[in-house]
Amino acid sequence: MQELWTAVDGWLTETVVRPGAEWIAAEAESAAAGLPPIQVTAAQGKLLHLLARLAGARRVLEIGTLGGYSTLWLASALPEDGSVVTLELDPHHAEVARGNLARAGLAARVDVRVGRALALLPQLVEEGAGPFDLVFIDADKAEYPGYLHGSLALSRPGTLLIGDNVVRNGAVLEAGSADPRVVGARSFHAQVGADPRLSATVIQTVGSKGYDGLTVALVVGDGAR
Ligand code: SAH
Ligand code: DHB
Ligand code: MG
Repeated sequence: MQELWTAVDGWLTETVVRPGAEWIAAEAESAAAGLPPIQVTAAQGKLLHLLARLAGARRVLEIGTLGGYSTLWLASALPEDGSVVTLELDPHHAEVARGNLARAGLAARVDVRVGRALALLPQLVEEGAGPFDLVFIDADKAEYPGYLHGSLALSRPGTLLIGDNVVRNGAVLEAGSADPRVVGARSFHAQVGADPRLSATVIQTVGSKGYDGLTVALVVGDGAR
């Protein structure tokens, strides 16, 4: 099925999603700089963009920047005075992202912070950087439960939390998995489902990146508790 998913994804991207030249350039620059091609697809990025607009988001937190491709989709959804804080472990990825964002004229509204997300999140809490209107979780899959905890501390009722790569070609069903990314996704979902502050669903996705999914969770209670 992968060939078909990729072909349909390509056609839908050209016909409906229609990413701008900056998006195409960001993918090319990221590839040329040696970054792994693991960014969200254009169709998924556009979904992030539309959800941010629908939420009226002004402040966005992203965990896992890579070359800033998803960051472009999110930052371009914000009003002129909106801002994105995006967390990235790898300084080279962060540098490539800054270049891509600058080329798209969006650098002024994006703060790319380098470090381990689990260390940076409590710093943001301490700075009083929250609450964010939307959080996109997409860094180390094994750490998703910790990212959820940190994101909730930076949320308010109405904050939208989105997690990428949560279905993992169906491996999320494997209760005995030794893959820390699967363990992370399972534990993340158990926490999302059990947390009375959250109302959530998962969108299963197919496309050029295979079979995966996005968790969409709305904070309906006090995220600071
Ligand atoms: N959101 C991007 C893709 C992110 S890929 C997009 O869709 O365009 C995951 C990124 O998380 C990688 O760049 C990786 O270096 C980064 N990462 C991995 N572990 C991390 C950690 N502990 N803290 C912060 N970033 C991390
Ligand atoms: C990986 C990370 C991602 O965010 C993604 O969308 C796909 C793959 C990875 O670390 O392999
Ligand atoms: Mg991802």
